[in-house]
Amino acid sequence: MAKAVKSLFFCKECGYETAKWTGQCPACHEWNTMVEAPAAGKKASPVTGTKRLVKEEPRSLTEIDGAEEERVSTGFSELDRVLGGGIVKGSLILLGGDPGIGKSTLLLQACRNLSLADRSVLYISGEESLRQIKLRANRIGSCSDRLTFLCETSLDTIQEVLRERQPETAIIDSIQTMYREDVDSAPGSVSQVRESTQLLMQMAKGLGITIFLVGHVTKEGTVAGPRTLEHMVDTVLYFEGERNASYRILRGVKNRFGSTNEIGVFEMQESGLKEVENPSEFMLDGRPSQASGSVVTCSLEGTRPMLLEIQALTCKTNFGMPRRTAAGTDFNRLNLLIAVMEKRAGIKLYESDVYVNITGGMRISEPSLDLGIVLAIASSQREKPVNEKTIVFGEVGLSGEVRAVSMARERVREAAKLGFTTCILPKVCLRGMKQVEGIACVGVTNVREAIGLL
Ligand code: TYD
Ligand code: MG
Repeated sequence: MAKAVKSLFFCKECGYETAKWTGQCPACHEWNTMVEAPAAGKKASPVTGTKRLVKEEPRSLTEIDGAEEERVSTGFSELDRVLGGGIVKGSLILLGGDPGIGKSTLLLQACRNLSLADRSVLYISGEESLRQIKLRANRIGSCSDRLTFLCETSLDTIQEVLRERQPETAIIDSIQTMYREDVDSAPGSVSQVRESTQLLMQMAKGLGITIFLVGHVTKEGTVAGPRTLEHMVDTVLYFEGERNASYRILRGVKNRFGSTNEIGVFEMQESGLKEVENPSEFMLDGRPSQASGSVVTCSLEGTRPMLLEIQALTCKTNFGMPRRTAAGTDFNRLNLLIAVMEKRAGIKLYESDVYVNITGGMRISEPSLDLGIVLAIASSQREKPVNEKTIVFGEVGLSGEVRAVSMARERVREAAKLGFTTCILPKVCLRGMKQVEGIACVGVTNVREAIGLL
């Protein structure tokens, strides 16, 4: 009898391997995540050049060269900031995002900038033909000859080309289309994606090439393929945005070389992506004047404060069950805030539908938005507009107290810069805070007091 092909089961979430199928992954306890894939054949040979010839001795911290990693600018300050100050040589960066959001465009533009700075770049596409790439490049502008393109999906060939050409930066668009011949499952499958990333990792580290991987995302919004993919790479970035809005947000979710809170804001235009240097202005564009239910707040993304508009609408419930909708913020948090308003500030909302929206399609879950949401709802319920030149921020606790938020002065400064004249903020934040010119700060201790200011 012929020997059956050996196959294994992998968990899509955590990459756990078992010999037989199970409904629940024994490692991460997720249901229905096991997928069958052929076991990897003979162990792939490591990339030549990565093999250590001399045995490394353990060293103490003082013996290690502590010079800062050299950073290469991508020509986009927004992208550089998300990367932690530029590209670190030899790092492996994963860029995920919905189809059509602009991943290929962003990387092509970054490649163009790099090539114009006389750095060699190889763009490997497994999704588009050279002609398609050319058409896109035409929209973006002229490129230098240091930028070369290759349409290829076989990683064995790619490995050879990379070793031969030794570009400083390489793009793999996308990891789901790549395959290794020694792994016999289809491109995009768990084991292919994992083994391919493993190989690219070795190449990035061994040859000192910075590699950007483009990754597709699943319905849930995480990069398709095993979760382990995110653990393997140095940096994970997500490119997101509303399909019908023109701006895009680049978010770092993992970064071995910098902070992960940073975001970059871009706008998709006719000729590619353009950086948005002042997102606050962009987000507040088209704000209604003297409308009830509209409040401006300041959220902090990484080190950058950003002003946002919160809109709330309350109206009488026609059926027994009031409706609550939160767009751009956490639904459960909204319910909690409504409960706090009912109980601690005496605002009756049990007969009202409440809709809350963060305009511009931003998604924010920072607690400093709480007070803004509360005031927007109160303003709509009482039909009293909040002064246009007022900004509000603060976290709200369950007993209705307004709690401190971090970096309050930076937020106030940003508001002052955009011409706001009053700031309602937690009273505790005022302690020891130096005054900011041109803006009056009003400290509040609880929601009742804050609503009283309306
Ligand atoms: P693309 O980079 O192909 O997306 P992804 O690689 O993430 O799938 O972006 C495609 C979209 O961007 C497409 O809808 C057209 C739009 N676009 C512009 O609006 N302007 C441009 O200059 C370019 C190149 C694309
Ligand atoms: Mg693409």
